[in-house]
This record gives sequence, structure tokens and C-alpha cells, in this order.
Amino acid sequence: MLCTMLLMMCFVYGHGSQPHIILIVADDLGWNDVSFHGSDQIPTPNIDQLAYEGVILFNYYVEHICTPTRSALLTGRHPIQTGLFHGTIGAADPYGLRPNETTIAECLHELGYSNHMVGKWHLGHFAEEYIPIRRGFDTTFGYYLGKEDYFDHTSTVFANKQYLWGFDFHKNGEVYKPVFGQYSTEIFTEKAESIIRNHVNSKKPLFLYLPYQAVHSANEDQLLQAPQKYIDRFPHIDVKKRKMYAAMVSALDDGIGNVTKALKSTGLYENSVIIFTTDNGGPVCGFDGNCASNEPLRGSKRTLWEGGVRGVGLVNSPLLEKPGRVSEDLIHVCDWFPTIYHLAGGNSSTLKNLYGVNQWDTVSSGKQSPRLEILHNIDTVGNYSALRVGDYKLVVNSLYPDKWNDWYPTEGQGKVNPDPRATVVHCPNKPTNASTNCQPFKAPCLFNIKLDPCEYNNVADIYPDITSEMKARLDEILPTVVPAANKDKDMNSDPKLHGGNWVPWIKQTGTNHV
Ligand SMILES: *[C@@H]1O[C@H](CO)[C@@H](O)[C@H](O)[C@H]1NC(C)=O
Ligand SMILES: *[C@@H]1O[C@H](CO)[C@@H](O)[C@H](O)[C@H]1NC(C)=O
Ligand SMILES: *[C@@H]1O[C@H](CO)[C@@H](O)[C@H](O)[C@H]1NC(C)=O
Ligand SMILES: *[C@@H]1O[C@H](CO)[C@@H](O)[C@H](O)[C@H]1NC(C)=O
Ligand SMILES: *[C@@H]1O[C@H](CO)[C@@H](O)[C@H](O)[C@H]1NC(C)=O
Repeated sequence: MLCTMLLMMCFVYGHGSQPHIILIVADDLGWNDVSFHGSDQIPTPNIDQLAYEGVILFNYYVEHICTPTRSALLTGRHPIQTGLFHGTIGAADPYGLRPNETTIAECLHELGYSNHMVGKWHLGHFAEEYIPIRRGFDTTFGYYLGKEDYFDHTSTVFANKQYLWGFDFHKNGEVYKPVFGQYSTEIFTEKAESIIRNHVNSKKPLFLYLPYQAVHSANEDQLLQAPQKYIDRFPHIDVKKRKMYAAMVSALDDGIGNVTKALKSTGLYENSVIIFTTDNGGPVCGFDGNCASNEPLRGSKRTLWEGGVRGVGLVNSPLLEKPGRVSEDLIHVCDWFPTIYHLAGGNSSTLKNLYGVNQWDTVSSGKQSPRLEILHNIDTVGNYSALRVGDYKLVVNSLYPDKWNDWYPTEGQGKVNPDPRATVVHCPNKPTNASTNCQPFKAPCLFNIKLDPCEYNNVADIYPDITSEMKARLDEILPTVVPAANKDKDMNSDPKLHGGNWVPWIKQTGTNHV
């Protein structure tokens, strides 16, 4: 295993100084859905406080959808290395993050951490080896699938012309029913608070992985859900979907505030590093039945436009050397693995075959990012890709020929003036040919993201050398892409066969699954 030799280092570095790591993930939160990015609709005072008192990551990139990002976050390996670059894992799909991939939880365990996961997994659950309690966590509390009802915790999926429906909530690998009827943002928050309180007398450092359900859409019968007290905060938003979405974000913000309070009141905060990230760009109104905003960025969740991959992210910690800053450095979601590993006392230079690089000096002290390049993705099944090198981004093909390639204004009315402290993306004027000057199916498009973060101006013809160099770089990476891990749906997953629950349905995996 990647980090087996670390027991010794653990001893060398000692436990005393290892910080608690609180890794909070929002699901489907859009660029313009937090007030520290300038949202004038949805105040997020608790997330903002973490941002303003910490370091705002302004050039931070995640993957375009859930499974690729979560796999990258937990392994430091690019989805092209793990086979998880194409689509997300469906409820009936017999594949996932392979057991031979080492998670950050497994590494932290060896470095002496006590590991707890609260929330969404979505890295495969068809066999026991894939579920989170088997991936380095001491306790787990949450669900396995990509989406479900926020209150009854059931999930429906359409597979082979049938609707499959079942309950998906698990505690330490066992079905857990007492949460039925309770809103997930609140129960995940309470669970996180209780883990923090119970940790006070522990000698071990804490790793809390807190991937919230919010603000992903739920099942088709009721796509967006929030308790009335959060909905009541948005009388000014007249578009119903957007109002519900805002309520869900507001609940998330309260939850993060409550978790921060628990850290502070127990004193754990003094030696904590809080990382907050979205898993992908926002699904704009109509996408997945949701209603996020990435304004002014282009595109939506699931696309490789900036709106799909430029992510909300921040780090907050009393251990930051230069807090209260905006970092413009290029950072990728894979970078958290070696960064956390370094914080935990490991030597990140010994980690092999990662895509991520240790960014602690960049985040903490403002040292220049060691990263010059980000491969947004090469999807060899969907045949589309995008690459960033320095200020330039090359886009080759696109997932959808005819949709989600545009700019989607925020729906509904604003309420407050944008916070003057907000860190806002500035774009040049939109040229009239913005949506026609780039036709990524005909020829690769080139954008200078620093000057044109909205991807208005395709400059491929102006800089043919940069375009062909970046295309050559993609061609160079292409042979290293492993085959997609995706597998056809397996109807043995049907909850009807498992007491009405989504649970692993293959008890022992043969070699063909590994
Ligand atoms: C795990 O196995 C897969 C398929 O055999 C392989 O592509 C991948 O590189 C392996 N991962 C590691 C970390 O060795
Ligand atoms: C946060 O804490 C307050 C006060 O205890 C509580 O009313 C609220 O429901 C909590 N919010 C969440 C999302 O957990
Ligand atoms: C970290 O590992 C690298 C590569 O093995 C090694 O050169 C370096 O000396 C190590 N650093 C420390 C502080 O042990
Ligand atoms: C993939 O896209 C490239 C570039 O647009 C095109 O030349 C190629 O024919 C496509 N391949 C497939 C299999 O569709
Ligand atoms: C788009 O229009 C601008 C002027 O608004 C022009 O400078 C640019 O060359 C045009 N781009 C393309 C690819 O036609």
C-alpha cells in the first residue's frame, strides 16, 4: 500500500503537532452561490467568515462532476489514472473506486489519525470492499449513492426501463433507519458536532470528512427540498426553484457555522485546518432539476467550461502563516491529498503516482504554486477534453453539442448589495460572436483565462503555436489514460432483493472487479 512505510515516520514526527483536518464538501454549489464571490441573492455569512479570515482559492479547479472529483479528492490521483473520468456511478452500476487505490483516510490512519466520515460517498457500493467503512474510516454515517431524498433517504434510479427504489442510509456499513424523516443537512451537522465534542479527550488528531448532500437535487417527485424556516429567508426570490435552492444553500451555511462553533467551543479549532470545496460547478437552472448560478462563468456542471470546473474553495486555519488573502494560484482538487498528508506529518515527496502536488506553502504563505498545468479531463468514451497551461486553456470537443455551452444568468431577484469584500470575476465585454467564435467540434478553442475568464474570445487563430503545443500535450497524455471503469447496470442491485435497501449486492469480488 502507498503509505505502509509511514508508521515509522509517524513515530519520527510525533503526534503532538498534527493538526485536525476538517474536509467539508458541498455538492453542486455554483460559483455565484456564495456571497464571498459576490452573490447578491444568497447570503452565506458562515462560509464567508471562513473565507475572509482564511485564504480564498480563486483559481481552484475541481472536476466537472461528482465521482471524478470525489475520487481525485480522496486519492490525489487524476480520474484518468483511476478510470473514473466518464460519468458518475449509478445506483445499479457494479464499479467504483478500486480497492487498490489508497485513500487519504487510509494514509491518515497510519499516521495516527482518528477518521470519521459524515455524508455522501458516491465512489461505489456494489461490493463490501468498496464502501467507506472499508476505505480507512473508523466510523461512517451517511449514504452511498449520488442523490436521494433529503428527508426519507430513499433513492430512485431508472435502470433497464424500470424504476428501482430503496432506502440508502448507513452507519458504519449497516443500514440505519432512525434518521428517516430528518433533513440531511441538519443530521450531518449534528453528527459532525457530536464527533467533534467526543473527540475532546482523544490523544489522536481528528480527520473529519464531511461531504454534505446539499445542494444536489433529490428524487424526481420533489427535486429541491428544505425545511420551511430556510425557505422563509428568501421572500425576495420569485423563481420557485431558485428560492428552494437558496434555502438549501442557506441551511448548508448554517450547518458549516454550527460545525465551526463546535470546533471553537471545544478548543479543537486552534489546531485545525478547515478545507471547504465544492465537488463541481453548479447545475444551472434546468440541469438535473436544479437551479445553481455560475455567473459570469460559462457553462454548467458536467461541462469542461469554467462554470463546470472552476470551484468554490477556501482554507481556514489558525495555522495559516498569511491568512486573510485571496490566492490566485492554480490549485487542483487532487492537490488536497499530498497537502493533507504533509500537514499530518508525512513526507509528500515520497508519494508516488499522484497527480496532486503539496500546496501547503502556497496556501499558507503565498509561495508560488508548483502547478503550471491542469488536465481538466480527457474523456476517451465521450471524446472531449480540456487542458490548462499557465493562463491558457484548450477545449477540444464538448460533451453536449447543443446545450449547456452558454452563459446562464442567475434567476430571480437580488436582495442585498454585493459585499464589498467579495472576490468577483471580471470579464471583458461580451462580443456579439461569443457563442459562435468557438466551435469545439470543428477545431480546438483557445482561451486566455486570466484575461477572459468567461471564455468569450476564442484566440486559437491568433495563437496557432500555443494551440498546437497544447494539442500536442493532450496527445502526449492520451496514451496514459486507463480504460474507463464503467460497467453495465446490474439488476441484482434492486433494493427489492435486499429488504428495500441499497446495499452491496456482490459479497465477494472476483479478480474481474479489481
Ligand atoms: C489499480 O488497478 C487498476 C486496474 O488493474 C490500475 O489501472 C491502477 O493503476 C491500479 N492502481 C494503483 C494505485 O496501482
Ligand atoms: C445550527 O444550530 C442552530 C442552533 O442550535 C439550529 O437551530 C440549527 O437547526 C442548526 N442548523 C443546522 C443546519 O444544523
Ligand atoms: C522526503 O522524501 C524525499 C524523497 O524520498 C527525500 O529526498 C527527502 O529528504 C525527504 N524529506 C524529509 C524531511 O525526510
Ligand atoms: C474525437 O474528436 C476528434 C476531434 O474533434 C475527432 O477528430 C475524432 O474523429 C473523434 N473520435 C471519435 C471516435 O468520435
Ligand atoms: C469576434 O468578434 C471580435 C470583435 O468583436 C473580433 O475581434 C474577433 O476576431 C471575432 N472572432 C472570431 C473568431 O471571429
